[in-house]
Amino acid sequence: MTQRDAHFPAAFLWGTATAAYQIEGGGTNTDWWRFEHREGSIAAEPCGDACDSWHRYGEDLDIVATLGLNSYRFSVEWARIEPRHGEIDRHALEHYRAVLAACHERAIAPVVTLHHFTLPLWVADAGGFESPDIAEWMGAYARVVGEALGDQIAMACTINEPNIVAAMGYLASVFPPEVTDWSRYVAVNGALRRCHRAMVDALREGPGDFPIGMTLSMAEYEAVDDGEEALATYRTEMEDRYLAEVTEDDFLGVQCYTKHLFGPGGMIWGGDGELTEMGYLFWPRSVAYTLRRAREFTSIPLVVTENGIGTNDDDQRIRYLTEALAHLDEARRDGIDVRGYFQWSLLDNFEWVLGYGPKFGLVAVDRTTFARTPKPSAAWYADAVAARSGEVAPSSSTPSDEVGA
Ligand code: FCB
Repeated sequence: MTQRDAHFPAAFLWGTATAAYQIEGGGTNTDWWRFEHREGSIAAEPCGDACDSWHRYGEDLDIVATLGLNSYRFSVEWARIEPRHGEIDRHALEHYRAVLAACHERAIAPVVTLHHFTLPLWVADAGGFESPDIAEWMGAYARVVGEALGDQIAMACTINEPNIVAAMGYLASVFPPEVTDWSRYVAVNGALRRCHRAMVDALREGPGDFPIGMTLSMAEYEAVDDGEEALATYRTEMEDRYLAEVTEDDFLGVQCYTKHLFGPGGMIWGGDGELTEMGYLFWPRSVAYTLRRAREFTSIPLVVTENGIGTNDDDQRIRYLTEALAHLDEARRDGIDVRGYFQWSLLDNFEWVLGYGPKFGLVAVDRTTFARTPKPSAAWYADAVAARSGEVAPSSSTPSDEVGA
């Protein structure tokens, strides 16, 4: 393994995040597509054309630039890049190179996630994260991505929320492969950590000197009714064992939305207080809480790679983000090394098993015409970022000075 000095963008990264499957459309070669279409599927609806961002990414990036953001987090789809084992689709890689070029043309630093929930069918059919070969396959895929795109990447996330992939797929049974089995869940968490390591090693050997890390789903937790022990067991698997693993990485992506209550029987949905439409507690202070908790485990730089709220009430979104950014400011003032903040999400998009119901976007997307309409929260976020940057992010510049201090 080649260890090298990771080069962080000079400026704090202000961005918004998306994921390939949730916005591109036509992710037919994935385990998710099959899951949504199987007889009696628990998915609310199929993903279909999503936001058609496979074709409309230029329009999406124009909006990011108009908002004055200096960064955009998106993912590349393994199932498109390696549709069959060992078979690399050069057109897919060229497409993503064009997306990266479109970012640089707009002075937007691209933060690229390599795996965001979906698996190619050939991987799923061969056992997915339970295959003994999974770390080798993900390492090989990361090598392909690094070699083809690495010179254009500003920051890379290996796996998005591996802890959610495991928890939802092997415990809660609401993601493929719809399993509920504690020991398989624990084993898959271990496999995902090995995959992450293989991907870091592969990316480090390729071109570019961008920082590499994983993103972790974190939350504030509170034990109720003597739920302390159950909570400790759950959180050890969900967070602590991952946090112990990342100490040699270049950064950790912290993703947080809410607070969960935990009783002796497990997680308690909702709680007393304002609830979001997804039934989550309205809890923007989870931003500061999770950053502090991550800091207890590791001193590597942190990036809030996702934070936001699913709501049809855009005033509630503005209220949530106002408080979340105040908590981020406070954590930074307290000296926590945070390098960026990515609101989830740029667009109303496909919210996995819940379909198109939950609205996380700063921008509404017409489900028939795909027309994008920024909501008031988009302008609000642009102003909040401009106030914190002390300047509006540059609208045009060369890649090297795109996020200059
Ligand atoms: C996170 C996922 C992201 C999105 C948000 C709401 O767990 O990473 O794709 O679904 O939740």
